[in-house]
Amino acid sequence: MASSPSSQLLQIEAVAKTYGEHQVKALSAVSINIARGEFVSLMGASGCGKSTLLNLIAGLDTASSGRIIFDGADVTKLTDEAVTALRAKKIGFVFQFFNLLSTLTVAENVALPLELGGTTSAADRQKRVLEMLAEVGMENRLNFYPAQLSGGEMQRVAIARALVHKPELIVADEPTGNLDSENGLKVLELLKHLNKSLNQTIVMATHSEEAGAVGDRIIRMKDGLVVSDSLVQH
Ligand SMILES: Nc1ncnc2c1ncn2[C@@H]1O[C@H](COP(=O)(O)OP(=O)(O)OP(=O)(O)O)[C@@H](O)[C@H]1O
Ligand SMILES: [Mg+2]
Repeated sequence: MASSPSSQLLQIEAVAKTYGEHQVKALSAVSINIARGEFVSLMGASGCGKSTLLNLIAGLDTASSGRIIFDGADVTKLTDEAVTALRAKKIGFVFQFFNLLSTLTVAENVALPLELGGTTSAADRQKRVLEMLAEVGMENRLNFYPAQLSGGEMQRVAIARALVHKPELIVADEPTGNLDSENGLKVLELLKHLNKSLNQTIVMATHSEEAGAVGDRIIRMKDGLVVSDSLVQH
């Protein structure tokens, strides 16, 4: 199918991943194109390879074979340093267990990606952190520590942290997997809002059909392969 390369943010070409001594084939020849502004849900049974694929996309792990072209760069050919730099600049990761640093406040956690980027002034960083926390409805919790927040609030802070440096792509691995249905719904609504209002590209793994249907497109996997890829009728 012909498509303009610039509209594709991510091109995954025949990517396979085999793990270590047990030679577990977690992914076999997965090919997926993701356009800018898409909200893609990745679904399938436990062990089908969702996290493996997300980790490869985010540069947290390396493919055994195949190519991953992200924003025009072949990630599979970059040095470790270049992948780290790409990740810091262009990707935000949202985890199932939030992964906030417990000794830092809400504002300090959200500021981290900006400090690692190292390009903005302290005043600019603070402004951006406040902007992002307002976007996720957490501006009244700046000086709270993670342990003083509910699970849903922690995930909203984690989403603010993932977005604070305006990444090209948000990768979310079961972002509602550890939340009750009410908080899960709030997080999904927030992701949908960010996708629609900022045209933020999102790839989200989930076990929940309800969560998956929040995306524009559902890719289903089984045993390391893509078995279906369809648009959601909203
Ligand atoms: N570090 C590793 N070493 C060896 N095998 C691994 C490793 N990580 C994952 N695997 C294997 O790869 C397969 C895919 O795992 P993956 O974590 O991608 O699944 P998943 O779809 O995210 O599952 P879940 O829904 O339970 O999170 C599994 O069979 C798993 O045991
Ligand atoms: Mg997983």
